[in-house]
Amino acid sequence: MNFNLSEEHIMIRDAARDFARTELLPGVIERDNKQEFPKELVKKMGDLGFLGIMVDPKYGGSGMDAISYVLIMEELSKIDASASVIVSVNNSLVCYGLEAYGSEDQKQKYLTKLATGEFVGAFCLSEPEAGSDATSQRTTAIDKGDHYIINGTKNWITSGGRADVYLVIAQTDRDKGSHGINAFIVEKGTKGFDIGPKEDKLGIRGSDTHTLQFNDVKVPKENRIGVNGSGFRFAMKTLSGGRIGIAAQALGIASGAYELALKYSKERKAFGTEICNHQAIAFKLADMYTDIEAARMLVMKAAWDKDQGKNYDKSSAMAKLYASKVAMEHTVEAVQIHGGNGFVKEYHVERLMRDAKITQIYEGTSEIQKIVISRSLIKE
Ligand code: CAA
Ligand code: FAD
Repeated sequence: MNFNLSEEHIMIRDAARDFARTELLPGVIERDNKQEFPKELVKKMGDLGFLGIMVDPKYGGSGMDAISYVLIMEELSKIDASASVIVSVNNSLVCYGLEAYGSEDQKQKYLTKLATGEFVGAFCLSEPEAGSDATSQRTTAIDKGDHYIINGTKNWITSGGRADVYLVIAQTDRDKGSHGINAFIVEKGTKGFDIGPKEDKLGIRGSDTHTLQFNDVKVPKENRIGVNGSGFRFAMKTLSGGRIGIAAQALGIASGAYELALKYSKERKAFGTEICNHQAIAFKLADMYTDIEAARMLVMKAAWDKDQGKNYDKSSAMAKLYASKVAMEHTVEAVQIHGGNGFVKEYHVERLMRDAKITQIYEGTSEIQKIVISRSLIKE
């Protein structure tokens, strides 16, 4: 067993760290205030290869492993979780979904552009009546021979107003339940495909979240991903990888907050000494660091499972469940360590606390991760 990162992994992590500090940090508070999508920064991340991290270079990707992916996600998320969720969705839901399950034509047409950042991707599973209960899809795609007609509503879609390519899950045969679901590629601007207003959110406010409406949207048959009826398994397998990305995001939010809290506690004085010398504060730091290291082990293990070609459904759910809990609990502690300064924007920790909450909700709530983990344990 080797807990050391390779030279290459260290270089990748440092490149992401450098980018986050020099490019993401300067405008992060303003983007959060204005709910501003980081358009130019997404382009820069594309140039650095961060939008197609694990994609084969023959499709324009960086050809890196899942360990590299989580290192990049952690570093970006320490500074800006709004930017990192765009990276996560594009990489592990959209690019992975197309690379693992798409046809060669789909890869040439869409993946090559998504992997370089020329296109941004969105993944559309959730609906007003089908969030956790994802098999209850109400959106329909009716087979019309050489095309499908899609009708329905998707909500909470990340990059919903900004994407070029949308992977849309829809019911093609209700009688077949989860086996009557398919995934489709829908291009921005397709007739009948409308983007609703942007959500005004608690956290990750720089990311763009929209409801999408499909009214008789005509999609060519060649835009269906995989064999007929495979859409739900496509969504579940893709989400297992996505959960590694969100776990790494939670890890980054937690470790970003910890680093700020440690620094502050060594500078701020109360009762004649730096506050880190008060045991109540020192023990908070000890708990934070220990839990963050434990979360890191789970995140790395899930990424390693993926790199080794092992099943990662359970390990990704465990990593997300635990890292998101650590992120939520310890960003609250980071605010506490900052006292009144923790409550204002310029110290960053209040934003990290607000951003942490979503990691317990999207890509499957914590309760859903427990369903995935427990079912897997019982099956084993
Ligand atoms: N791999 C392959 N097949 C799978 C699978 C997996 N990981 N998980 C389930 N399946 C198969 C099952 O084997 C079953 O097939 P059979 O009928 O042939 O046995 C079929 O899919 C249906 O599975 P279940 O019976 O387990 O379905 P369920 O209704 O009990 O739901 C669930 C399972 C795990 C709760 C699932 O609905 C789920 O994950 N819900 C959460 C949805 C979610 O994570 N949404 C995230 C949206 S994307 C997002 O959020 C992005 C973002 O924010 C940035
Ligand atoms: P519900 O399913 O209604 O759940 C409500 C509560 O009930 C939760 O606490 C849940 O854990 C609990 N619950 C439900 N069922 C059970 C059960 N069986 N056992 C125990 N507890 C249960 N979706 C996409 O498809 N693409 C995206 O890009 C995307 N981005 C998002 C971005 C943001 C900012 C947000 C807020 C959401 C996003 N989502 C996206 C949707 C997200 O995945 C869902 O919100 C999430 O899966 C939960 O679904 P829901 O909101 O309908 O909650």
